[in-house]
Amino acid sequence: MNNAETVAAARGLFPGGVNSPVRSFRSVGGRPVPIARGEGPHVFDTEGNRYIDYIGAFGPLILGHAPAPVVEAIRRAAGEGTAFGALTPGEVELGSRIAAATGLDRVRLVNSGTEATMTAIRLARAATGRDVLVKFDGGYHGHSDGLLVKAGSGVATLGLSDSAGVPGAVAALTAVLPYNDPDALEAWFAAHGAETAAVIVEPVAGNMGLVLPEPAFLHALDTIPQAHGAVLIADEVITGFRFRYGLSGLLQNAGVVCLGKVIGGGLPVGAIGGTAALMDLLAPLGPVYQAGTLSGNPLVTAAGAAMLDQLADGAVYRRLEELGRHLENGLTTAIRRAELEASVVRRGSALTLFFRSGPPRDYATAREAATEVFARFHAGMLERGVMLPPSQFETWFVSAAHTEREIDATVEAAHAVLRGMAQP
Ligand SMILES: Cc1ncc(COP(=O)(O)O)c(C=O)c1O
Repeated sequence: MNNAETVAAARGLFPGGVNSPVRSFRSVGGRPVPIARGEGPHVFDTEGNRYIDYIGAFGPLILGHAPAPVVEAIRRAAGEGTAFGALTPGEVELGSRIAAATGLDRVRLVNSGTEATMTAIRLARAATGRDVLVKFDGGYHGHSDGLLVKAGSGVATLGLSDSAGVPGAVAALTAVLPYNDPDALEAWFAAHGAETAAVIVEPVAGNMGLVLPEPAFLHALDTIPQAHGAVLIADEVITGFRFRYGLSGLLQNAGVVCLGKVIGGGLPVGAIGGTAALMDLLAPLGPVYQAGTLSGNPLVTAAGAAMLDQLADGAVYRRLEELGRHLENGLTTAIRRAELEASVVRRGSALTLFFRSGPPRDYATAREAATEVFARFHAGMLERGVMLPPSQFETWFVSAAHTEREIDATVEAAHAVLRGMAQP
């Protein structure tokens, strides 16, 4: 099947032609490109066209596509059997690497980031005997009911869901505050501290495009919930093992940490971790139920352990910082030359080019970005062989398989596309 045939066949099979919504390209308006295979920094469509990839599977592929040690580990594990429904040494291999790198007392492996955050919230509610959850506008933590909730503008409100099918009673237990606003957090706890079980946050926001946390906000997160007996849930599904080996290091007082993406080596994974006192509330020791037929799957744990072994000495992160900086500088120059209103936000290997004049500090300012301009940029880059995430509000990921050659080619394409867009 060629590209058009694959897309047409998928349309009749899957809602919107996809198994996860952003893949449909709806936010950029083009036709999705079906990917047949990946190699290093590149993906190839069904017709053999090659693209420099910055989707990186939305975060897991920190070593690029099909890194030999990870592929070999999966092959070896598959030959031994793909699932057992029993404790395996592979789980111990991955779990002990995560625990050693993060300092978490206990870890439980699950199948996705969504499962991790869902379980973390259940744990926090059980530990505190309270029901209300605080999240931040534009923060994405997976698709469980209570997390598909957004804010009223600016002021804290008890939420209404973004999604049909979420009971009002569930959405009403989620409060949404603006990101990077310590005063709003303080005010929330002053009024509702006694009912609030947990605050869930991405230490670096990656799902409204990349938005960096301000120090005062991080400090508020580390102090205010704890002072009111609530649990801080650090959603490190993107940030964990992305910027350095282990957690982001931005939050010191998280009671529960959620992981995913990188720790599975590109296979389906999630994990929660925390203190023994909290984590031992989970079944079978405690009253909080959580389970999974394929949790701790041997292919996943083999891939994850092989991936983490490649990252452990820190060299990959130093290289990613160089490559990320190179891309940021190149794009910033291209924007300046084209005299367009745009800005680049980056941390390490994660980056977003926003079509607004300065870096956003929350979802309200991120939403000021010109999405129709991003759509034109995306289409132009795709035409020149660069695969960007198909939404203004996603993060681009550079991998350690990228080299200066790919970054330079990307910057050159950006110069051409932005110049073309700047001309009336
Ligand atoms: C910060 C964050 N948390 C949770 C999730 C949910 O993870 P998953 O898609 O594996 O369910 C995501 C997914 O993008 C995420 O970015």
